[in-house]
Amino acid sequence: MCSQAEVRMSSCDGQTKTSAARVLTQEELDRLGGERTLVSDFKQMKLENEAQKNWDLFYKRNTTNFFKDRHWTTREFEELKACREFESQKLVILEAGCGVGNCIFPLLEEDLNIFVYACDFSPRAVEFVKQNPLYCPERCCAFQCDLTKDDLMENVPEGSVDVVTLIFVLSAVHPDKMKLVLENINKVLKPGGIILFRDYGLYDHAMLRFKSGSKLGENFYVRQDGTRSYFFSREFLAELFEETGFQSIANDYVLRETVNKKEGLCVPRVFLQSKFTKPGQPQSS
Ligand SMILES: C[S@@+](CC[C@H](N)C(=O)[O-])C[C@H]1O[C@@H](n2cnc3c(N)ncnc32)[C@H](O)[C@@H]1O
Repeated sequence: MCSQAEVRMSSCDGQTKTSAARVLTQEELDRLGGERTLVSDFKQMKLENEAQKNWDLFYKRNTTNFFKDRHWTTREFEELKACREFESQKLVILEAGCGVGNCIFPLLEEDLNIFVYACDFSPRAVEFVKQNPLYCPERCCAFQCDLTKDDLMENVPEGSVDVVTLIFVLSAVHPDKMKLVLENINKVLKPGGIILFRDYGLYDHAMLRFKSGSKLGENFYVRQDGTRSYFFSREFLAELFEETGFQSIANDYVLRETVNKKEGLCVPRVFLQSKFTKPGQPQSS
């Protein structure tokens, strides 16, 4: 049942968008609330220092086979097609934390009139992007960059990007450093430009599955391989972006039931899907 303040929209692709967080069962609440011990400060520091190494090892193990190509981005974010003033205008996109390119290559295949900057802090991931047959320097520029400390302007001109995509990336960054990522992105985004965000939402199935000893902080966990994941509430995300000077355009949970073939179970997935804009008038070139 929806509360009065809550807006729920079902779509034909089996997902529901809503402004209200998923309601947990008593058993789920007990399980989450029962985990009070956090990973030690020493281990937390080690995980932070080794974040890049752990992601690079992830790509060494999984190569390009882990994430599926994300063909849904233009369905979910019409800005990837429609925010040009003229048909002939080239759209400049930055995929921040591009992994091996599961988001950018479907876009490059679909739209001939885009230029994509793609960066990741894993050197292996960047190398996989460059080796993709669809990669060509006239249409894309992939480079290695730690979004929390390397200035994006070393590779991307100031105020030159129309659309930034942040797809399942910010969740991998320590919450104390997320603002640094947004400040870095802010410098290369045009006034009037847009950030498209999709990531793990509060009470996603993955959050409830973490075993004891994996909790790093509120809504923040570590996986067996040392990579970390934050689970976003819409309030936390809105505050983070608004404090960095962005304005919210959309910010909703996406609820889906997916079948986990390994476990033979139907599981509730929760993502947060949002759009933010950098205030200001786009400058005509
Ligand atoms: C779950 S993957 C998502 C990759 C891609 N966006 C996609 O949609 O398939 C998260 C990515 O974020 C990258 N990442 C994590 N922290 C980062 C940081 N501080 N700077 C740059 N990339 C980072 C990881 O290397 C990894 O490739």
